[in-house]
Amino acid sequence: MKFNELLEKRRSVRKYQEASVSIEVIQEILNESTLAPNAGNEQPWKFIIVNNKAMLKKISDEGKKNILARIAANPNDYAKKYQSMLQNESFNVFYNAPCLVLILGFSHLKNLYVDCALAASYFMMGAASRGLGTCWVNFGTEIHDPKIRNELSIPDNCTIVAPIILGYPEKIPTAPKRKKAEVLKIII
Ligand SMILES: Cc1cc2nc3c(=O)[nH]c(=O)nc-3n(C[C@H](O)[C@H](O)[C@H](O)COP(=O)(O)O)c2cc1C
Repeated sequence: MKFNELLEKRRSVRKYQEASVSIEVIQEILNESTLAPNAGNEQPWKFIIVNNKAMLKKISDEGKKNILARIAANPNDYAKKYQSMLQNESFNVFYNAPCLVLILGFSHLKNLYVDCALAASYFMMGAASRGLGTCWVNFGTEIHDPKIRNELSIPDNCTIVAPIILGYPEKIPTAPKRKKAEVLKIII
């Protein structure tokens, strides 16, 4: 696949087939993700693979509960527009994808967000190059319950930066419209 085709094929996928992705393939994509640029080559990223639908539902419910609590505490919260969707019991924030990969690292690290986001970007490209679908689902960052964090082996003092769902897409959507690149100035 040419690189520009890959850029088109990497879309946020919200409809998946039932088939799961093998751990070997996920590992391969993760190894490619670690080729991402990162500050000082410190490679702060850690990964957790959840390839289990029951656990995915548990994390989805946890995320929904925590965001709804946040909205209740602050009705001006940006997530307010998602309130009715999140109140729908049958809504799974992970769109029933068969797999979720969490990209995380120690919270105190200065470049954690940038580095993990770059790894996430490589991950999504690596997946797309294999015909797989992904979607970054921010609701998956809201895992606060210590029991669930423990089940997932999230180390203390770690922040989840990028929850990425993964699976075989039902179909790859066309790219949502983009604004023209806003070049503020060209100096020649
Ligand atoms: C930081 C971040 C958070 C996102 N969170 C969500 C989310 O919670 N749910 C969702 O369906 N999509 C989420 N997305 C996907 C965006 O909606 C998507 O990238 C955007 O609409 C552009 O579509 P495209 O990825 O197909 O180009 C997120 C993307 C990013 C980068």
